[in-house]
Amino acid sequence: MIESIRRSTRQEREMWIRDAKYNLFNLSSDKVIIDLLTDSGTGAMSDKQWSEIMLGDESYAGASSYYKLKTSIKELLGFEYFLPTHQGRAAENVLFSVLVKEGHIIPGNSHFDTTKGHIEFRKAHAVDCTIDAAFCTQELHPFKGNVDIQKLDKCIIDNRSKVPFIIMTLTNNTAGGQPVSMQNLRDVRALADKYNLPVVFDSARFAENAYFIKVREKGYENKTIKEIVMEMFSYANAMTMSSKKDGIVNIGGFIAMRDQELFKQASTFNIMFEGYITYGGMAGRDMNALAQGLRESTEFDYLESRIGQVAYLGNKLKEYGIQIQEPSGGHAIFVDAVKFFPHIPQSEYIAQLLGVELYIECGVRGVEIGTLLADRDPETRLDRCPKTEFLRLAIPRRVYTNNHMDYIAAGMKNVFDRRDEIKHGFKILYEAPIMRHFTVELERI
Ligand code: F0G
Repeated sequence: MIESIRRSTRQEREMWIRDAKYNLFNLSSDKVIIDLLTDSGTGAMSDKQWSEIMLGDESYAGASSYYKLKTSIKELLGFEYFLPTHQGRAAENVLFSVLVKEGHIIPGNSHFDTTKGHIEFRKAHAVDCTIDAAFCTQELHPFKGNVDIQKLDKCIIDNRSKVPFIIMTLTNNTAGGQPVSMQNLRDVRALADKYNLPVVFDSARFAENAYFIKVREKGYENKTIKEIVMEMFSYANAMTMSSKKDGIVNIGGFIAMRDQELFKQASTFNIMFEGYITYGGMAGRDMNALAQGLRESTEFDYLESRIGQVAYLGNKLKEYGIQIQEPSGGHAIFVDAVKFFPHIPQSEYIAQLLGVELYIECGVRGVEIGTLLADRDPETRLDRCPKTEFLRLAIPRRVYTNNHMDYIAAGMKNVFDRRDEIKHGFKILYEAPIMRHFTVELERI
């Protein structure tokens, strides 16, 4: 699809962002020139996907679209059972309704905010066991999404009866779209087997993860992406999926599993929260487009061009002296706000400040992955101070050209050149009790 971009003036943007209480989520899309808020649901569908839209079967039960999606999931990911849901967090809601109980401890590698939200909402705890290298932006580790097996082992030993499963997020979004190695997945499986625990993958960007395994992990250079994907999932008992990422559709999600009993239990919650088990909140045409999107996202040429574009932006920013999470990740560039504004305390929400300044500069909208997102500790209600403070520039799939990347990098450089003139960040005027970053209202200090 071709969409027009509405250009605006700095004066207009200063007014709009003030009226939006310095929350980039509050801006209507026509006030944004290049939208890097998320790569979720913002991709462009292919000719084949649009053709599939026309073939959708909208039967309530047993639609051919359901079977088409079931076939793609079986052939590409290897799971026997699946339940469609309207998006990724809905898959979490359904699966966790079966698996998560009050007091449970769920270890993994940097749970995404909705994952953590669904865990904490059930009065359980998410424990981040990501490797330490992930939090050091200049350390060149090829698999910064990995879990630290020793930390994970200790967490399970310390909480033996309270751990219902291990969750692995592929790629690790919060750490910078960083991949998990096949060896790490194998080690997690071995540990899980030792304690007889299931492993769940949060699989939103599984294809991007497979690309990094192919180009970075010894022994995988001659394997196809589809072979790598199949091996990755062989280490999981179940998966949740936000199809808005590596499904390359605008809305949708699913849960897939091997165990029939788990499928039966989850089906009840799916019917209650999402819809009947053969559509689960998705239109038949959307299931068709997803069945096709999964085939396309697991093609090497597509992944090389997509992840190459992300790296192109990262390299431009580095040329300008701007520090980012390195190596650059699969879906986004994460700009290190602590290095950008060393003269402003983290408590003034400096990644948000960078996002606002970039928007004012050039109309590019990113998203804060820092103290606002980290939210308050549910028990102490104090701000959780994350180890990293990032502005994420997420690149939608198949939407922008490298010409747009040049524009984004130039805008960022302009902010970088005037960073010393920026003295203060924000304080909070309003925040919601959970997942505050979506609706927070801010005031300049
Ligand atoms: N898991 C991961 C790793 C995610 O990145 C997301 C969404 C979800 C689960 C939830 O899926 O949005 O379909 O309900 N991430 C988006 C983002 C919102 O911008 O990173 P959803």
